[in-house]
Amino acid sequence: MNDTIEDLAASLPSPACAWIWEPDALRERARAVAAALPTATVLYAMKACANPAVLAAAVDACDGIECASAGEAAAAIDAGADRIALSGPAKTAAECNLAAEFPDRILVHAESATELHRLAEAAYTGPVALRVNRGPALPGSHRMTGPATPFGIAADDVPETAETARRLGLNVVGFHLHAVSNCLDAAAYAAHVAGGLDWAREAAAASGVDLRYVNVGGGLGADPRGQVIDLDLLADLLARLDHDGIELAVEPGRYLAAPAGTYLTEITDLKTVDGQAIAVVRGGTHHFRLPAAWGYAHPFTLIATDTWPHPWPRPRLDEVDLRVCGELCTPRDVLNTGRHVASAAVGDRLLFAGAGAYGWEISHDRFLAHPRPLQITLDGPY
Ligand SMILES: Cc1ncc(COP(=O)(O)O)c(C=O)c1O
Repeated sequence: MNDTIEDLAASLPSPACAWIWEPDALRERARAVAAALPTATVLYAMKACANPAVLAAAVDACDGIECASAGEAAAAIDAGADRIALSGPAKTAAECNLAAEFPDRILVHAESATELHRLAEAAYTGPVALRVNRGPALPGSHRMTGPATPFGIAADDVPETAETARRLGLNVVGFHLHAVSNCLDAAAYAAHVAGGLDWAREAAAASGVDLRYVNVGGGLGADPRGQVIDLDLLADLLARLDHDGIELAVEPGRYLAAPAGTYLTEITDLKTVDGQAIAVVRGGTHHFRLPAAWGYAHPFTLIATDTWPHPWPRPRLDEVDLRVCGELCTPRDVLNTGRHVASAAVGDRLLFAGAGAYGWEISHDRFLAHPRPLQITLDGPY
């Protein structure tokens, strides 16, 4: 039994390498989103983290799950989700067939007229929301609206696409307006929500859609370096938002999943090269790709370990700016470009907290066939 995550980190056999999941952290974030947006439906974008325990917590704590593939939707169904939004560009016949099997549970966010044809061919009878790139671009790490992107249809094409859906016998209930990931600007996000609703009302009236659903997407910011969107300000700005008769949905991934995952590694080698202190760890960006993908230094805490089972001296460096590199044969395998530590020794453990969103999920762990990290779930006190 370990009292803290640090105790757990110190207790794992060497060389330690693990993802540590804390589903309760997602529950807490889900409560905060629900409190900030009390009239909205909250769907968890499971692309951020599909760890089964985290997904189970999301099924329990959110109103439903947003999925981007048949594989994700199948996992969400297995986890007991009774409400699923199926998004993602270029849906295949297999994805449309899965949706057709569960018309009462799955709402499809359709990205094109081609997808509408595939849905009709699959005899899908459930609700459809048209994904629209209505602009404007929102501040954030991944902008999906404004300029041309593969996501959704152009705003000008809404009337024609709605007409195609009608001809195909599909039930269009509204619009999907996902615009951005990692938006840290609460005022801009609030404007997106309010502006999206206004736009949807006008677009529905102009295209004969009986508007019952507007999904403004994900994007609630939780930057891996620590900053988060100000939910209190967002709540204040949207307190008087009127969406009577229209279900307003949000589908955050990052904000909910980020605190639920910690990546743990062990220093397996330590050297100084041209004055730069370098720790090489068991693991790296093939398990936690985000720092390499974004080019930032993920913060870590160092857990000193006392044991040294070998007869030769234990390598140690004091008062250094430590660069943390992984075990891959590429200079891009860097988790942190430099952080001051009072001391570091081979065998010490490093904890990269706040790594749960798009960490393990986007990683290429097959590369070089190193052992996979342990997957450890912590439920409540541990
Ligand atoms: C359609 C869709 N919805 C939701 C999300 C979740 O975004 P975030 O994790 O920033 O909340 C994404 C992420 O790219 C997405 O593409």
